Amino acid sequence: MSTQALNHITLTRPDDWHLHVRDGEALRTVVPHTAAQFGRAIIMPNLKPPVTTAAQALAYAGRIRAAVPVGMAFEPLMTLYLTDKLPADEIARAKDAGVVAVKLYPAGATTNSDAGVTDIRKTYKTLEAMQKAGMPLLVHGEVTSPEIDLFDREAVFIEQQLQPLRKDFPELRIVMEHITTKEAAQYVAESDQYLGATLTAHHLLYNRNAIFTGGIRPHYYCLPVLKREVHRQALVAAATGGNARFFLGTDSAPHPAHLKEHATGCAGCYTAHAAIEMYAEVFDAAGALDQFEAFASFNGPAFYGLPRNSGTITLKRESWTPPESFAFGEAELKPLRSGEALPWKLVG
Ligand code: DOR
Ligand code: ZN
Repeated sequence: MSTQALNHITLTRPDDWHLHVRDGEALRTVVPHTAAQFGRAIIMPNLKPPVTTAAQALAYAGRIRAAVPVGMAFEPLMTLYLTDKLPADEIARAKDAGVVAVKLYPAGATTNSDAGVTDIRKTYKTLEAMQKAGMPLLVHGEVTSPEIDLFDREAVFIEQQLQPLRKDFPELRIVMEHITTKEAAQYVAESDQYLGATLTAHHLLYNRNAIFTGGIRPHYYCLPVLKREVHRQALVAAATGGNARFFLGTDSAPHPAHLKEHATGCAGCYTAHAAIEMYAEVFDAAGALDQFEAFASFNGPAFYGLPRNSGTITLKRESWTPPESFAFGEAELKPLRSGEALPWKLVG
């Protein structure tokens, strides 16, 4: 990577290791945003109905590819949605079809998780097959019990679910997705090579005050929810600290604006339009631009056992303001920080 006078950054083309692109018309808005920045992205399977077979994953990959603008090279990396009933033999079919991972949503944890796992023990045969096949498990790490405080659900998940799971499957590769707490950052840092974690731009940039500044701000609401400043600082330290098991995953999660600006607004922040610029801002503010390329472009492929991308992208220190909203099928899509200027700009 070159950080010429720190006004330009050129880095190996990065990947997004956690992304929601939805389906249908929505693909035409969001896929080009991601393809303009990233070489590959891990595509979350929480469609309605969820992606639970290799055949469905292949068909979905085809629809995503059809939305990539001509001349752009972008590869969707597909995942299956773990349910209580995902048959163990689907793992071999998934592997043959090029599916790269399986996603665990505890039932009820977040958007389109109703079909998720009600009891992790029900999935043990499938996890066994995954461990054997070297198929990683991607985890939405929050307990769902209503009596557990919303802000504690990630830390409690680690104790009650993740630790026992890792004991039972010591060689299952697991990614704790979108970590939000110092407990999670510490747990991942202290664990072995079988556990990694993704970090979003929004959890690195904001603490929970952002949801309530001057009134309730639904576009800052996501799950796991933003936490206190002490947690944000721990996440920045993890991202910039040189540990190769932390890597970039935006969790960019588009919803129609009218369903976020709603009495029961949907969880999810849309960042794909300017994701790499927002991460650059985080690393710049932390004085850690020298660590940026490893986090964005090297650590993810290393964990997944994939080659790094060829080619580069270049960012320039130049203030610009992304569009306030985008067309989203019949609806409107408002990105995080809508209408605000960003200090870094993708220029090539
Ligand atoms: O904020 C979130 N949005 N968190 C998730 O886990 C799911 C995602 C979505 O699909 O909208
Ligand atoms: Zn997600």
